[in-house]
Amino acid sequence: MATVAIFGSAGVVGLEIARTMVFQPEVTRLVLIDINEAKMRQEANDCAMLAENVPVVTDLTRDGAIEEVFAKYKPDVTVQAAIPISWYTLANSVPKDIWKRVNFEARIGPFLPLLLSFPIKFMEGWKAAGSPGEVIQLSLPDIVNPVLSGMGVAPSCGSGNTENLCSTLRMMVADKFACPTREIDIKLVAHHYHCWFMHSPSELPDLQQRMFHFRAFCRSYDVTDEVMGDADFLPALRKRYPYQRPRFAATSVVKNTVRMLRGDGVVTHVSSPGARGGGMDARFTSDGWVPVLPQDFSMDDVEALLQSAREADGIASIAADGTVTFTPKANGAMAELLGFDCKVLEPSQVHERAAELLECIKSIRP
Ligand SMILES: NC(=O)c1ccc[n+]([C@@H]2O[C@H](COP(=O)([O-])OP(=O)(O)OC[C@H]3O[C@@H](n4cnc5c(N)ncnc54)[C@H](O)[C@@H]3O)[C@@H](O)[C@H]2O)c1
Repeated sequence: MATVAIFGSAGVVGLEIARTMVFQPEVTRLVLIDINEAKMRQEANDCAMLAENVPVVTDLTRDGAIEEVFAKYKPDVTVQAAIPISWYTLANSVPKDIWKRVNFEARIGPFLPLLLSFPIKFMEGWKAAGSPGEVIQLSLPDIVNPVLSGMGVAPSCGSGNTENLCSTLRMMVADKFACPTREIDIKLVAHHYHCWFMHSPSELPDLQQRMFHFRAFCRSYDVTDEVMGDADFLPALRKRYPYQRPRFAATSVVKNTVRMLRGDGVVTHVSSPGARGGGMDARFTSDGWVPVLPQDFSMDDVEALLQSAREADGIASIAADGTVTFTPKANGAMAELLGFDCKVLEPSQVHERAAELLECIKSIRP
């Protein structure tokens, strides 16, 4: 018996999450929240035979709205999939040639103000309501969640991204050895950059300089060297990695929700467990998500890997208080291509910087 709340439930990803979540026997009440009433109510109707359904139409940017929903429904698990302007909407609103350059030269890091602004308000609303239950925060979890943690409003985890990579690796290894996926074990430590790379114009050496940590076991035999020794493996992985497949992110959200509701301690690859800056194996305990590291791989090794990947996403560092410094290369590209110059982003400046960045993007719209 559990209440799950999905903020942004009429969105591309939120809809898929709602559709998958309602089939979980543990979920007896589904609270669907969105400003888009027609789409969200339609979804609630479709789900109503399996769980008590509570559609909530509200503008989450209204002062106190987020806190009100949390205080009223006290969800056991909340999914934060609402965003005033999604990344894809932004990408589709500007000339393709400029966006291609921005995406490649500046990377996603310098867009942080826009990806972080709403999640800050969201987590502050959660805190103001007494911090009920667990929160899965989906907006660029590998970077946004550590910043939220530095600000004292850490979500429980993210979802998607490296979880999609882990699943794709498992399916590919299963195909290679003609085995059911349940007999394949993947140990992966990775970052958003590694997922971005899969559909980028970057060449393989870019990835190989800052490779994800990966071991594959087939029926308990370590087959990593055989897999990685195959020159076709990484190119094939790039082809198979799911891009713009919201259902992939949604199944990952539902998997993590079920793990948290059951509290069964099962180890699973999680994006940003305990608001960490990357994806790794973890188990959910009374202390939240606790990482389960691969053999001979320490937390210092994890941090070094994530730091290198973060830089490739345009982020030089995330300080303990949540202050983010961008790489000179990424900031230089943003200044040149969009006229947005932000070398360092302090938590207190995020909303103001987000408004400024949006204006810069609008200025290059046709
Ligand atoms: N981690 C991952 O793998 C992954 C993958 C895809 C998307 N995402 C993230 O998921 C989030 C949603 O992405 P999407 O593509 O579904 O976006 P979307 O624009 O389709 O959905 C956003 C939803 O938020 C709602 N919303 C916007 N402003 C609102 C307001 N003021 N009040 C109430 N509701 C409001 C919209 O109506 C919409 O239904 C984004 O943060 C995106 O970055 C994460």
